[in-house]
Amino acid sequence: MIPIASPFIGDEEINSVIEVLKSNQLASGEVVLNFEYHFSNYIGVDFGIATSSGTTALHVALQALGLEPGSQVVTTPFSFIATANAILYNQLTPVFVDIDPLTFNISPVELERLLKEQKNIKAIIVVHLYGQSCEMDEIMALANKFNIKVIEDCAQAHGALYKNKKVGSIGDISIFSFYPTKNMTTGEGGMICTSDREIADTCKRLINHGQTAKYYHKYLGYNYRMTNIQAAIGVHQLQRLDLMNKQRAKNAQFFLSHIENDLIRLPHIKPENVHVFHQFTLRTSIREKLISSFDQAGIGYGIHYPVPIHRQPIYKEIIGEVQYEQTELAAQEVISIPVHPQLTQSQLLNITKTINEFEVD
Ligand SMILES: Cc1ncc(COP(=O)(O)O)c(C=O)c1O
Repeated sequence: MIPIASPFIGDEEINSVIEVLKSNQLASGEVVLNFEYHFSNYIGVDFGIATSSGTTALHVALQALGLEPGSQVVTTPFSFIATANAILYNQLTPVFVDIDPLTFNISPVELERLLKEQKNIKAIIVVHLYGQSCEMDEIMALANKFNIKVIEDCAQAHGALYKNKKVGSIGDISIFSFYPTKNMTTGEGGMICTSDREIADTCKRLINHGQTAKYYHKYLGYNYRMTNIQAAIGVHQLQRLDLMNKQRAKNAQFFLSHIENDLIRLPHIKPENVHVFHQFTLRTSIREKLISSFDQAGIGYGIHYPVPIHRQPIYKEIIGEVQYEQTELAAQEVISIPVHPQLTQSQLLNITKTINEFEVD
């Protein structure tokens, strides 16, 4: 079986974890500070705050913006549910905007239409889905015009570029996930990035029980801290990230130049973007048949995502029956194939051959 994802853990990560275990300093400490320093430098922001997951990073990042309860926050309905859940955790109101069918990212045209109609929108969470940046110039221009804050959800886009800028350095605040399927991992883990000192200080307190000094709690906070054990893995994963991303891009390029089948649509990459291929996602109107071919050939795949967020029961209860045409269509047609850096040449050939030979009977 060719797995859809496969984390690469080297001797450096293993040895560093052993070192932490022997040091007796297992919880958040120097190793976390070191990881935060290097990760924020890599992204090109002033502050990095390591967290226990991408989800907890999102919760706190949105809270740190200090929006009035009930304010509307816009996001895409075509993402992992954690993106929208951050809005509900903060007692804010989710509003969805349809996607661009070519990139699967939130559509700036639809966003503008919404912002002209709705006046209570205070923030937007954009998601750089599958490893490709959203159209950030257009989004930032709208955010400035309508005075809304921008959170970048970079859970799937470590190292991705938009016009030579790292994603995660463009909005007011950004978050990353280090779940094992991601472009780099710490087992579980996340990071908040920002260049705003006040927002960074608020996030640091929120992830640590609202502590301002040891055992002095000015705010209601949480235990969302990363451990030294996780950070020890992260430091070495970060050193490997560019190389791992290059290998993903090479694998993607192989598919782009060798997959040829009229039943399949390949990913669209915008010229201003460096895509880091967290996922290599195809479109086909006969997905179930393609899945049978993959099952027979022992090829892993993923459907990201079969049910749009606005169709999930918890969201339907809140926002009722709404329709986002491009999102609904994408949810029926997308299928991701393995593109991770550990694929061998014969696996690449096997995947390509299976797709090229796929036909309707
Ligand atoms: C787009 C997106 N946002 C948020 C998350 C949440 O990250 P985590 O699983 O680390 O909580 C994920 C990952 O699963 C994701 O893909």
